Amino acid sequence: MKNFYVVGNNTSKSLSPTIFNYWFKKYKIKARYNYLQLNNNNFDLKITNLLRNKKTHGLNITVPFKQKIMKHINLIDKDSVKINAVNCVITRPKTKGINTDWTGYYKTLPKTKNLKSKKTLIIGYGGAALAIHYVLNKKGFKNIIVFNRTKKKLSFVKKTKYTKSINQLKLHLGSADIIINTTPKNLIKKQHKKLIKEKTILSDIVYSPKETPFLRDFPTNKKIYGISMLLQQAVPCFKAWFGFKPAIDQELIQILNRKIK
Ligand code: ATR
Repeated sequence: MKNFYVVGNNTSKSLSPTIFNYWFKKYKIKARYNYLQLNNNNFDLKITNLLRNKKTHGLNITVPFKQKIMKHINLIDKDSVKINAVNCVITRPKTKGINTDWTGYYKTLPKTKNLKSKKTLIIGYGGAALAIHYVLNKKGFKNIIVFNRTKKKLSFVKKTKYTKSINQLKLHLGSADIIINTTPKNLIKKQHKKLIKEKTILSDIVYSPKETPFLRDFPTNKKIYGISMLLQQAVPCFKAWFGFKPAIDQELIQILNRKIK
């Protein structure tokens, strides 16, 4: 039996086991996928043991260990180095770390013409936001503004630039075409919600509940739910482990939707 795990500090409610165990069953793979909750004190020792264990075939890494995992890995792909985060580990023949958050996130965006000329706001600049910022830059998005609670230097841009203060969000909401929330909160004040246009695309990366505090007050806007990113980042990870792309079929979507109501 091959073992796979999602590793983080709060993974007991993660839907990754649901997704991967569904695919294992569907494709008749003899494997099981569990969650593992670690903390900063036990992470290094537990990961060392886990990677040494011959039954461990792959890991997903989530908050807050996507950087901390990197020193345990032999080979890290260049995109992960640039993003400075690994969310998927292949254990054989050597440990290899890849980042599938950036490609996964891009797959969730609509295939609209001229999307890259749209004004895009990213709220928050943690690990997931870095992957999103990376892919949008790589795909040529010209007009991205990043807001964060604490001032941080922006990566992937030529000139030195910093995140804007959350207080400045209100000045940009009315002209935004895409707003991406990468924080666990809704940082748009109630009185500013009406500034957002109906055609603005709203995207949240939190997947439970489906209608997050950020998304739920906008019944008519096009929304990109967090579960899409979770699914899309899982596909290339599965492929890295088993050599083929699993299907995101209706049954899987229904199973997940029942869990994130
Ligand atoms: P992830 O890797 O999933 O992005 P993270 O690295 O913990 O998670 O990032 C969380 C993001 O949400 C950060 O941008 C964080 O802001 P700081 O950089 O200032 O810490 C933001 N965030 C979390 N809680 C927040 C809160 N209560 N108010 C504002 N921003 C918050």
